[in-house]
Amino acid sequence: MEKKFLYEGKAKIVYATENPDEVVVYYKDAATAFDGKKKGEIENKGYLNAQISAYIFKYLEKQGIKTHFLEVVGEREQRVKRLSIIPVEVVVRNIAAGSLSKRLGLPEGTDLPFPVVELYYKNDELGDPMINHYHVQALNLATPEEIKYMEDTALKVNSLLKEFFDSLNILLVDFKLEFGRFHDQILLGDEISPDTCRFWDKDTREKLDKDRFRRDLGGVSEAYTEILKRIKEKAE
Ligand code: C5P
Repeated sequence: MEKKFLYEGKAKIVYATENPDEVVVYYKDAATAFDGKKKGEIENKGYLNAQISAYIFKYLEKQGIKTHFLEVVGEREQRVKRLSIIPVEVVVRNIAAGSLSKRLGLPEGTDLPFPVVELYYKNDELGDPMINHYHVQALNLATPEEIKYMEDTALKVNSLLKEFFDSLNILLVDFKLEFGRFHDQILLGDEISPDTCRFWDKDTREKLDKDRFRRDLGGVSEAYTEILKRIKEKAE
């Protein structure tokens, strides 16, 4: 397959293929946090996230969620549909942590009575500020129908993944999704991995995600490896 460099992001490189409707995504070991202010590498992260994300997207597709995912094409690469990304990140939270704890003064680990959905404007220069439906319309980022579809889908993904990870003895604390336009459809895009979700072990509440990198807790690669191991055991 011939590949042509298209774009390099913080964690991934995107290549065009002969098919104008598809791209190949290469997952890097590079890790960033706090709007790119903290930089580092997580050993083997590219491989681990490419595999973890592939398992999750395949599972969601099987459950009827429309995604960009097509297939894994190498240890660290995926073939996916080429989306025009909607610059609105959708975050769903089940347990208070991270920026929600900080903003609202809710101690980390507080159960939320129902899933809380938040929207963020995907804009590196502005540091991805939180926005509401008014901002989405004022900035013309997406139509009201598109935002409704994205929020409804994010809540469906939350129900599916909460149950899936519960069966692996993992709490799904929160996660971020991105969507994109593909012809007349909206598809779930980007990745779902320990970079984009908070995962806690159900018994010990040990963090098994990027917070280990953000907070210098050590054992980052080991935590990602543990997530892939539990998913694989379940898949076999
Ligand atoms: O930092 P915050 O608490 O708002 O993050 C909520 C969730 O969204 C976390 O799981 C985090 O990893 C994810 N996130 C992300 N990319 C961002 C912001 C947040 O994957 N740009």
